[in-house]
Amino acid sequence: MCPPDHYEVAYAINPWMHPDDWRPHANDLAAESRREWLALRAVFEELGADIVLAEPAPGLPDMVFTANAAVVFDGVAVPARFRFSERQGEEPAFARTFAGLAGDGTLSAVAQLPAGLSQEGAGDCIWDRSRKLFWAGYGPRSDRRAVDALAGQFGQRVVPLELATEAFYHLDTCFCPLTGGDILFYPPAFTEAGQRTIAELAGDPERLIAAGPEDADRLGVNAVNLGRDIVAGACSEGLQARLTARGYRVHVVPLDAFRRSGGGAFCLTLRLDLDLRTVD
Ligand code: ARG
Repeated sequence: MCPPDHYEVAYAINPWMHPDDWRPHANDLAAESRREWLALRAVFEELGADIVLAEPAPGLPDMVFTANAAVVFDGVAVPARFRFSERQGEEPAFARTFAGLAGDGTLSAVAQLPAGLSQEGAGDCIWDRSRKLFWAGYGPRSDRRAVDALAGQFGQRVVPLELATEAFYHLDTCFCPLTGGDILFYPPAFTEAGQRTIAELAGDPERLIAAGPEDADRLGVNAVNLGRDIVAGACSEGLQARLTARGYRVHVVPLDAFRRSGGGAFCLTLRLDLDLRTVD
């Protein structure tokens, strides 16, 4: 995770971001973001997570969204190449973070994507622990071509899913594979071909948990799943009931200050410990 010391909404690179709404309340919203981030971190720690911090840098407000920093698997980090200049300054900043993590043994190596393509980290490349494959979003932020590069790098299957809307611009905003083999997702965020791919690979239609706009529009699908625990910035009573019926425990931690930037719980994290053996 990366502390929100320099977090703000200072530019607009997705439809959730409105710098003119942020600026008049900047101090209050910055304080709110600190409270919300600390509460999120506390829940992860209660659930047993070890948190590693990236050092935040001034002028790079979206560094808090560490999901976008890299795809990490089997100890290897593949750092992101950001679509927009507003976030490209994060690349050298996170390069220092990953070099430090390779130096202290938290990671075994840092690899590189080929030049000239965009790929925004785990936000667009999500490991499915029960199916043993990556799901990769492409379109608004990451290039389709990144799929083959990531498959080659990790030696794992990477399933491309085209994102159909600007609002759900990263795969993690609309897609969340769960530990029990269930897939929480928001169908309208995908093309018809993408929806077919999801249904085919889900196997049993019972595994699909379609969220409605009441949850998707609050970035509730952008959730972190640790074992049977699901941590999200929002989750309607209806969705909570459906998840609980399948044996999950839902923890809601309001993240409204981050939703103003288009981010939720998953965006604020990057798992460093995933590999073929990970089940939780
Ligand atoms: N403001 C950030 C952006 O538009 C939010 C990123 C949210 N992260 C995520 N993984 N969806 O890039």
